[in-house]
Amino acid sequence: MIPIARPQMGDEEKDLVWSALSSGALAQGARVRELEERFAEFIGTPYAVATSSGTTALHLALLGNGIGPGDEVVTVPFTFIASANSILYTGARPVFVDVQEATFNIDPDLVEAAITPRTRAIMPISLYGQPADMPAIAAIADRHGLAVVEDACQSHGAAIGDRRSGTWGAGCFSFYPTKNMTTGEGGMLTTADGEVADRARLLREHGMKVRYHHDTVGYNFRMTDIHASIGLGQLPKLAGYNARRRSIAARYDAELRGVITPPVKQGVTHVYHQYTIRVNRRDEFVEQLRERGVGTGIYYPIPVHRQKPFVALGYGDQRYPVTERLTDQVVSIPVHPSLTDEEVSTVIAAVNEVAALLGPIDGAPA
Ligand SMILES: Cc1ncc(COP(=O)(O)O)c(C=O)c1O
Repeated sequence: MIPIARPQMGDEEKDLVWSALSSGALAQGARVRELEERFAEFIGTPYAVATSSGTTALHLALLGNGIGPGDEVVTVPFTFIASANSILYTGARPVFVDVQEATFNIDPDLVEAAITPRTRAIMPISLYGQPADMPAIAAIADRHGLAVVEDACQSHGAAIGDRRSGTWGAGCFSFYPTKNMTTGEGGMLTTADGEVADRARLLREHGMKVRYHHDTVGYNFRMTDIHASIGLGQLPKLAGYNARRRSIAARYDAELRGVITPPVKQGVTHVYHQYTIRVNRRDEFVEQLRERGVGTGIYYPIPVHRQKPFVALGYGDQRYPVTERLTDQVVSIPVHPSLTDEEVSTVIAAVNEVAALLGPIDGAPA
């Protein structure tokens, strides 16, 4: 079976982890600081704050922008639940708007109508590795005096022109094992705002600047030096990993038939955390691919507003037609950098065979 993800660990990561273990300095320390500096440089932001996960990076980015009870944050329901949960953790309320069919990302044309006097921030998700329309979102945020918190958990190294994901407002990255780079578990908040970075650092460590003197109620959202060591081994390889993902995606774009492949706007660098196609009779499609030895993923089978905790909060009757249609059609096929050219050919042959068997989806190029 060709798996949907296959994390790659080399001798660099093993040597760096071994050196951290041998040093005896295991908690957040010099290696975490080094990863923060290198990641900030890679993304192109003055500050980066390492965290225990992408979820805690999102939570800290919201708190760092002063978001709390009574506030509203505009976001989308077509995402991993952590995006919307991070808003709930602060006591604020997510206000959903639908996504664009072509990009799977927030539709900027719908954002302004969702803004109320309580709105404090917009949280676009750069889903599957393609940046949301960040210039449009940043312009709306500027007009209304709102913060921008980009969920960049899937878009390490993605860019619009030469500006990377994570440089508009706060950027929040995940280093979960399947991501374009990993630390095992971990996350990073990037920002150009020194006050947001300071506040995130304070809250990451129980509100403590001076040892055991606590200025506020904070959290333990620290990354360990062991996890940071994995990241220090991975980061120099990220550009190469992303290039390989893009070259596999280029073959899929050119060779897949009977399915809708993901279009990319000119000037956008998509880093294909997932290569997500839209297909006819999706559940049968997945089963047929499995029978041909191709693993797949459905990201995500239920939109956030239909998940149980959100139904309990009263979101269940809201309607997001594009999200709901995409939820029934999307399937992600393997695009990770360790795929061999033969495996890529196997995926292409299997997808084309199954699409011919089940019939093309409406809108697929002939
Ligand atoms: C879009 C999105 N948001 C948030 C997260 C949360 O990141 P983590 O799993 O590191 O907490 C993830 C990753 O799992 C994600 O894909």
